[in-house]
Amino acid sequence: MNTRLKHFNAQSSDAVERTEFDALVDKAVSRRGLLKGGMALGIAGFFSMSPVAKAVAAAVQPSALLGFTGIPASTEDAVKVPAGYRTSILIAWGDPVLPGAPEFDHAGGNTAADQAGQFGDNTDGMALFHFRRADGSIDPNRAVLAINNEYCNYEYLLKDGEAKSREDVEKAKAAHGNTVVELVREGNQWRYVRDSRLNRRIHLETEMELTGPVAGHALVKTAADPEGRKVFGTVNNCASGRTPWGTYMTCEENFQGVFGAERDEDVPAEQAMFGIKAGEDRYRWWQHDDRFNLSKTPNEPNRFGWIVEYDPFDPESKPMKRTALGRVKHENAEMVVNKDGYVVVYMGDDERGEHIYKFVSKGKHDPANDAANRRLLEEGTLYVAQFNGDSETHAGGGRWIELSHGKNGLTAENGFADQAEVLVKTRLAAKHVGATTMDRPEWVSANPLNGQVYCTLTNNKHRGNKEEQPLNAANPRAGNHYGQIIRWEAKGGDHTADEFVWDLFLLAGNPTQHQDVYAGSSNITADNMFNSPDGLGFDKDGRLWILTDGDDSNAGDFAGMGNNQMLCADTESGEIRRFLVGPTGCEVTGLTFSDDYKTMFVGIQHPTGAFPDYKEGGKPRSSIVMITREDGGVIGA
Ligand code: FEO
Ligand code: CA
Ligand code: CA
Repeated sequence: MNTRLKHFNAQSSDAVERTEFDALVDKAVSRRGLLKGGMALGIAGFFSMSPVAKAVAAAVQPSALLGFTGIPASTEDAVKVPAGYRTSILIAWGDPVLPGAPEFDHAGGNTAADQAGQFGDNTDGMALFHFRRADGSIDPNRAVLAINNEYCNYEYLLKDGEAKSREDVEKAKAAHGNTVVELVREGNQWRYVRDSRLNRRIHLETEMELTGPVAGHALVKTAADPEGRKVFGTVNNCASGRTPWGTYMTCEENFQGVFGAERDEDVPAEQAMFGIKAGEDRYRWWQHDDRFNLSKTPNEPNRFGWIVEYDPFDPESKPMKRTALGRVKHENAEMVVNKDGYVVVYMGDDERGEHIYKFVSKGKHDPANDAANRRLLEEGTLYVAQFNGDSETHAGGGRWIELSHGKNGLTAENGFADQAEVLVKTRLAAKHVGATTMDRPEWVSANPLNGQVYCTLTNNKHRGNKEEQPLNAANPRAGNHYGQIIRWEAKGGDHTADEFVWDLFLLAGNPTQHQDVYAGSSNITADNMFNSPDGLGFDKDGRLWILTDGDDSNAGDFAGMGNNQMLCADTESGEIRRFLVGPTGCEVTGLTFSDDYKTMFVGIQHPTGAFPDYKEGGKPRSSIVMITREDGGVIGA
């Protein structure tokens, strides 16, 4: 990376012509093959059939950063972790959270009102916020945990397995959203506090405010909200992020599923591109609640697909929908404070052929003024990524293209009347400016040690098979069913810069089934192979934790991979070890740590076996698992 940085720093002007910049990148890329370790290892994967690859692969050294013994793949209905680690359940779907809420009823008897006081379904992104003492120091043993409840499983939620009534829909609505719980640590085990005044459920009836350029715009006005500023609820909250000023960002992803319409002509193209369709027959909210019926409330979908910010310590606070960050199927929100104080948020839009985005705040972060910081996400500039590169090395340069009205063809003549329309139709704007189509961008995470930014590209069966999604350097495999992880570094280490360099850190694959590029990069072996990387997060020491949401058939192209899992990578040495395997049918998603990194919290979503109760007749329940070390040490060290 240093080679590249020297190239960047040699430039006196940011306004480098694209051709000139590309030449610089080409030069940098050509030199990368000579590098040992670090970024070169990612490149090595693409040379897996070449002498260069073998030479660089030989440089993979056992990691000093990873202090645990990797575990084998598993198909057991159990959470597996390395020797010396232990697991316990923090909270499971349906556990009572608010005062007066009943226990979970395995027989399915809980009502919508019960569910509104219980932990929501399908745990996903989360963040732990420690209490601060009067002197400003962190209380190591008290915290609140803000958690996304992404969606629900009707086969377990509803007695008949499908929504047949308004009550069924209300129960489903109450199972979505967010849950906030207070936690206390006793010894080295945390528990949640059932009746804490800080506990909160946020669901489809929670009042929220639209902020930023879209607030008050005609595109978000409805009969119930003629001002276009007040929205009830958040939905399909996938992953998340946190700010240095102590707020939580929860990201609305697959909101299309809760909308429907009576007639095809009531679903315009810009909503159909999200997957909204007439006659929707899975969730069926639109049949029982006019708010979700485009034939009755055509603008309601424009009020979803945003990132929502709220204060996890104030159960009365109103969550704020941050429209300046764009409307897509948001996966997570990775915030970095740039060296000059501007706040930068990296975001993926998880759909085949969609894009990676960056938001740069208009104002600067002030460590002494959190009240002002809480307005930083109201105003700023949105960009979308274009990855230009070398098809041989799968590395190159890229640029951030501004999505501002009046620039880059985003004009009224082209269908964007103003900035609000650019933001409501973020995907159309991105395509208009020539953003690179990606293999389903999921989580983004920045390495706290060097500022490099990583993003999981989980898989994409359309790659190379649809005309609008041709192979490109960053998304190089047709019918990509394994996924890859891309990373980039901002020009000069400046996250507000328009240019960056990138490569692929890994290509997932199966070296026992393939000898070609589907075997994966050179740091993928028969012992650590996996598919569909999704969750992603760095810890304080720079370990990269990778969580999977893929094919757990353990057969064919996926033979030997077992259940969904979590791995840990040393991004310097390139080594990857398997750390955890989830129970039957689950996705492993959601990751946060205690401040001392001695407890890891991991989400086990939509299990289908008997986890976590393992009792006859019990329903499987999405749960948060706590992982600690028997010797009380730092996780992964
Ligand atoms: Fe909710 Fe893209 O995963
Ligand atoms: Ca995900
Ligand atoms: Ca996924």
